Amino acid sequence: MTSETAQLTIDGVVYELPVVESSTGEKAVDIRSLRNQTGCITLDSGYMNTGSCISNITYLDGERGILRYRGYDIADLAKNCIFIEVAYLLLTGELPTYDELEVFKRDMRRYALIHEDMIHFFDHFPPNSSPMSILSTMVGTLHDFYPEMDLDEDPYGGITTTTARLLSKIRTIAAFSYKKNVGHPLVYPRVDLNYCSNFLNMMFDRPIMPYNVEPLMVSALNKILILHADHEQNCSTSAVRLVGSSGAGLYPSISAGINALWGPLHGGANVAVLRLLETIRADGGTIDKYIARAKNPDDPFRFSGFGHRVYKTYDPRATIVKEICHDIMSSLEIQDPLLDLAMEIEEKISKDEYFISRNLYPNVDFYSGIIYRAMGIPTNMFTVMFALGRLPGWIAHWQEMNNNKESRRIGRPRQVYQGVAHRPYVALERRQ
Ligand code: SDX
Repeated sequence: MTSETAQLTIDGVVYELPVVESSTGEKAVDIRSLRNQTGCITLDSGYMNTGSCISNITYLDGERGILRYRGYDIADLAKNCIFIEVAYLLLTGELPTYDELEVFKRDMRRYALIHEDMIHFFDHFPPNSSPMSILSTMVGTLHDFYPEMDLDEDPYGGITTTTARLLSKIRTIAAFSYKKNVGHPLVYPRVDLNYCSNFLNMMFDRPIMPYNVEPLMVSALNKILILHADHEQNCSTSAVRLVGSSGAGLYPSISAGINALWGPLHGGANVAVLRLLETIRADGGTIDKYIARAKNPDDPFRFSGFGHRVYKTYDPRATIVKEICHDIMSSLEIQDPLLDLAMEIEEKISKDEYFISRNLYPNVDFYSGIIYRAMGIPTNMFTVMFALGRLPGWIAHWQEMNNNKESRRIGRPRQVYQGVAHRPYVALERRQ
């Protein structure tokens, strides 16, 4: 709280509302007493101006392109850490010591298997089922195979049996859904491989063609998962917090987050970007035609991978993803025409007044799919990769919500009703 107040005049009456300040100086009008004081609520479709909670996990500044997890800058973490080290940071608030990280690595290897009965589920999804629907279904089912919280003395205390299980098993579920989708035999997790190596091996190892886990790919995967690990109150994280506020357990809350991420305006954008690049390439590389469509108010077409609700400058993650792209392409001596096309699109858009005036820059989804392609990950798995990265952030927010008496209150927004006021019932025989 600050000593400052905001004044609001309604029907000639002046009301005073407290002002709260963030640890980085941003201010917010605290409207928790508004309805009791004034009888009024606020209206803010899409919550563009509304803070849903007080959080200590991630800070982002959309104007300056700053992103920090628990105070550490995203570029430092991506450069110096492995993914599960950052997951530990998000969940506990501190980077692990060497010993703590070794214990966490051991737990990731220990909990990697899923119950054998779960494997039968994969046989009963229709062919070509979306890996996102499989992922959300299987994560929800973990609740029945691994009754959460029973073993956790402090279910909201950072690294628990339940959170370690979920972080480890989500890789196996994702890799198994891919193997089933392509009709290859399942590859089980190995106790001698760490988090990202195990995932890549489960995805690409085959009896007739053993997979060589390349350090370059492991490093790139660690970085890209770190870049996706959290992003404060985005749509899917807000879904996890809202569902969890009803008292729903971790697994169903995360399953809700996976479904929210799926949408093409959110995590599904990385799939939409690839499809768009393929469309433009098949259409003779006619970038100007699609730029014209994006600018046409009567055309719903938008350039996936551009624009952001919060970033009004270059998404700091997109900068690092683009660097990883170039590193991988040059190291593997890959020439991906879609990368060249993506860079040409960015170049054109960066000079176009429509996009400049609306602060539309590449976001984290614009180049990430190019990296996944270079790794051999199919387009329909791109949003699953986003979910693997975002999981520690979702868990951290679910725990923070439950650990805080204020934010644990069930989320229940109000509305402005503009339907029919009141009318008498009309019996069936008298209706025209
Ligand atoms: C993610 O919130 C997060 O933190 C999300 C995320 C995370 O890590 O969790 O960062 C991950 O979801 C990134 C965003 C991925 N989505 C896309 O790339 C889809 C394409 N982008 C857009 O649809 C859009 O930019 C949103 C959804 C991302 C943001 O939409 P907003 O904030 O509601 O902005 P808006 O729709 O009001 O757009 C403002 C103007 C409009 O034009 P005018 O009405 O002023 O004429 O900008 C235009 C929009 O038409 N616009 C675009 C555009 N994005 C916005 N025009 C063309 N192409 C685009 N991509």
